[in-house]
Amino acid sequence: MISTVIAIDGPAAAGKGTLARRLADHFGYAYLDTGSIYRAVGLKVLRTGQDPQDPAAAEAAARSLTPDELFSLQKDPDLRTEAGGQAASKVAAIPGVRAALLDFQRQFAAVPPGGCAGAVLDGRDIGTVVCPDATHKLFVTASVEERARRRVAELRAKGIESIESDVLADMKERDARDSQRDVAPLRPAEDALELDTSALDADAAFAAVLDYLQRKAVPR
Ligand code: DC
Repeated sequence: MISTVIAIDGPAAAGKGTLARRLADHFGYAYLDTGSIYRAVGLKVLRTGQDPQDPAAAEAAARSLTPDELFSLQKDPDLRTEAGGQAASKVAAIPGVRAALLDFQRQFAAVPPGGCAGAVLDGRDIGTVVCPDATHKLFVTASVEERARRRVAELRAKGIESIESDVLADMKERDARDSQRDVAPLRPAEDALELDTSALDADAAFAAVLDYLQRKAVPR
């Protein structure tokens, strides 16, 4: 049986993760946060005292990443820090790193774990490169100012105080690197539904997407 794939792309803090998780729960699909894989590789490089922009070090870290190691790094509190995001964005611009991680992501989409009938993957290049044949594609955006505000609130909820102007500058730097890189840059697939969540909360974004998907009859 061919699995149903919902591909969700967009910049940092646009609301992709929350939306992806809710859709996966709703349809009973498996969920893969592909950003966490790049974050795990970035963290692995940082922890060995190497530079995330060093292609040899980053590619070696990606090639040697085992599922167990990924699972344990996904639970590491440092994974979600801004430094973790920057390291991820740097390793993600290296073609050898992307190539090393491609099969794992495609396999997850083709044969979702737990016997699920479908999978939701979120990232930057799911609809364009990882799963160009995905049944459903979404491109979720929001203004960079709104995204920075959300990130500050998210950090505050975790007890981390941050300066909004620093978070905004960081986000602009990451957006630029992710969308201007030569390999698999952040951009909407031609057949993606674009959703701007600047003025939508998580419930409204979920309702809008659900309405769109139900009209396209997503099987459970
Ligand atoms: O979604 P996130 O913020 O956790 O992603 C961290 C970084 O990983 C992001 O800045 C770019 C990179 N990334 C990517 O290049 N391709 C993906 N499919 C997912 C993430």
